Amino acid sequence: MLFCIVQIYMNKEITSGSYSILFKQNGFDRLTNYLNSKNYSKIFIHIDNNTKKFCLDVFLAKITLEKYDLIESCDGEENKNINSCLKLWEIISNNGGDRNSLIINLGGGVVTDMGGFIASTYKRGIDYINVPTTLLSMVDASIGGKTGIDFGILKNQIGTFHDPQMVIIESDFLKTLKTNQISSGYAEIFKHSLIYDLKTFNQLIKNDKINYDLNIIYDSINIKNSIVLIDKKEKKERKSLNYGHTLGHAIESYFLNTEKKLLHGEAIAIGIILASFISNKLFKFSISHVNSIKKHVDSIYKKIEINENQIESIIDLLIHDKKNSHGKINFVLLEDVAKPIYDVQVNKSLIKESFKYYLS
Ligand code: GLY
Repeated sequence: MLFCIVQIYMNKEITSGSYSILFKQNGFDRLTNYLNSKNYSKIFIHIDNNTKKFCLDVFLAKITLEKYDLIESCDGEENKNINSCLKLWEIISNNGGDRNSLIINLGGGVVTDMGGFIASTYKRGIDYINVPTTLLSMVDASIGGKTGIDFGILKNQIGTFHDPQMVIIESDFLKTLKTNQISSGYAEIFKHSLIYDLKTFNQLIKNDKINYDLNIIYDSINIKNSIVLIDKKEKKERKSLNYGHTLGHAIESYFLNTEKKLLHGEAIAIGIILASFISNKLFKFSISHVNSIKKHVDSIYKKIEINENQIESIIDLLIHDKKNSHGKINFVLLEDVAKPIYDVQVNKSLIKESFKYYLS
């Protein structure tokens, strides 16, 4: 059975405007053909310390590639910044990178976001390919052409829209991940179901553990891609992908340099509970959905204690979120599963109430 499912997905592909999202060995074969046909002057494989150890040899065994240079960044959100970019640009430049060079990003969200960013800015934009190795990057970061880095503690403040040439999904890379990395990625899978697909939502919510089989990964990528295709530049529908992120990003930023440091999805999972509670108060999003979302999230993620002073500081960080404009805090909320509402302003006391609900 598993073999059959893998076979089906090997030959499937998802088209996203000018590029394709390809699966398993079919993707690697297409990459080999692509590289043979393109005659890039230089190919840089962008890795981090983890993917160098766990994924690089596996990747190289799946493609035919004679000459390449490695560029390495340090793992972790704290390294997704301009200093890391300066080092990467310098190595590329010193090693003869020109306008006809290619960067292959082999890694998680930090590698694919930052690698996309250095590609989009080097010589005013060179080609890149994403080979995500974490669940988060497979279903979210590598899809949709957003590239970027953090600015101080504020997430993704500097960035571009620049599509990759292709994205290759190899779920075998997930075997190299720790459980918290899987649950971090799962938050985006769960969010995709909530904003877009009642059937997947019902399928996920009934479990008290994480479902991330290839079927679910494929559906999740398909949801994100469908939304991006309607609204690439995030004027309206793409904002729904920020469900749970307004507060989630602020929570992630707040704890970034503390011993409670959270992975992206761990913070977003809290943000999803908060946004769902606020959705109930403002748009009558069914309380039974809100309670089952909380139960589901609580069964997967450890509870983070957040005291009143910390809540105040998190709310202060919200005004810096790039999704907010004219000094107003904008939320994406839900009136029902798959029925998002955009640009809702929420007052401070309701935000505080939502934290109480999360902590209860
Ligand atoms: N991760 C949200 C987006 O790609 O729009």
